[in-house]
Amino acid sequence: MRRVSVLITNIGELVTNAPAGGDGPQGAGPQGDGQRGDRPQGAGPFAALADAAVVIEAGQVAWTGSASRAPSADEVIDAAGRAVLPGFVDSHAHLVFAGERGAEFAARMAGLPYQAGGIRATVAATRAATDDQLRANLRKLAAEMVSQGTTTFECKSGYGLTVRDEARSVALAAEFTPEVTYLGAHVVPAEFEHDPGGYVDLVRGPMLAACAPHARWVDVFCERGAFGRDEAAAVLAAGTAAGLQPRVHANQLGPGPGVRLAVESGAASADHCTYLDDGDIDALASSATVATLLPGVEFCTRQPYPDARRLLGAGVTVAIATDCNPGSCFTSSMPLCVALAVREMRMTTQEAVWAATAGGARALRRADVGHLGVGARADLIMLDAPSHAYLAYRPGVPLIAAVWQAGERAAT
Ligand code: NIG
Ligand code: FE
Repeated sequence: MRRVSVLITNIGELVTNAPAGGDGPQGAGPQGDGQRGDRPQGAGPFAALADAAVVIEAGQVAWTGSASRAPSADEVIDAAGRAVLPGFVDSHAHLVFAGERGAEFAARMAGLPYQAGGIRATVAATRAATDDQLRANLRKLAAEMVSQGTTTFECKSGYGLTVRDEARSVALAAEFTPEVTYLGAHVVPAEFEHDPGGYVDLVRGPMLAACAPHARWVDVFCERGAFGRDEAAAVLAAGTAAGLQPRVHANQLGPGPGVRLAVESGAASADHCTYLDDGDIDALASSATVATLLPGVEFCTRQPYPDARRLLGAGVTVAIATDCNPGSCFTSSMPLCVALAVREMRMTTQEAVWAATAGGARALRRADVGHLGVGARADLIMLDAPSHAYLAYRPGVPLIAAVWQAGERAAT
């Protein structure tokens, strides 16, 4: 069968997050060294080409460069000066649940604090739901994500908290994404209130055994009101022994051991990082653990935003994700999170877009997404705008004009 190639040309700004391709140094990256050729593709920093074109073929990026030198292709799309970026990589989301907590949100906005205990309300609704109800909700949220430019997403369990309900949560998530995370250690469910140790044994024993075949990652909510350092370490060690890779909900509600545990466990990512001390920053900076910031959570809980400059200044790799969940942050919008990261966490527009694409890919240990180097998966978004900066410059405006996933146009 003949391969069909697609040329998208007349691109005002092509964000590649990759060293310059075959066409040479056209349009230096705004951070100056973005076109250096001595880094592996996708390892960043932000890089972009002006007046550019991209060819996609067999689901991959086949060529990038100057529009004036673009090769011919079977199909040609005129971007009319608009920007093309890698699809967003949302490396943190909780999409397997039933019910909603709008009243809890309203009460919070009226002055009540956010507490981890709200998770139990969603656990009750999730346990009572059928597989089809959970699947329908997941499908709706996954479609919402794609239409807002997310082409890769991670999905956690964590609202089942029984062997049966966690196992079906990870199995359902695996129908929609390969990035499935087992989060049996989300909170201690009510029936184990007086036996938290018994619940940890369940999580690292029979529940893990039932979930590991469907999951790639193991996660723990290491926080006061959820799991302490030793319990969290035990769950991560068991998950690792079962072939899963660790990631940690860390330092969301207050200072604590989560970030350092993530680094010591070799976690791909420490997520939230809202309350960090200097030791946490040093630990992250001297590790391969990505700090995943979730500005939608601070927006929806009225907690203080973490200072991304402090992390970036120390050389920490930063990702941005939504944390889409019915409690602490019910947005599926990466564009909103980019805008919040720029406005509230003092990231530049380039840093925020890199963190939402290449940073997310690093947090998921994926080399094939988050950048548009030759050979990358052809996950692209076209903005109805001339540059990536409009994601923050025009907050709340639906700017995603088109989405390609592995070279195929997705419904938007
Ligand atoms: O990432 N921190 C723990 N889990 C979620 C909140 C879940 C909920 O409130 O339902 C989070 O914020
Ligand atoms: Fe979360």
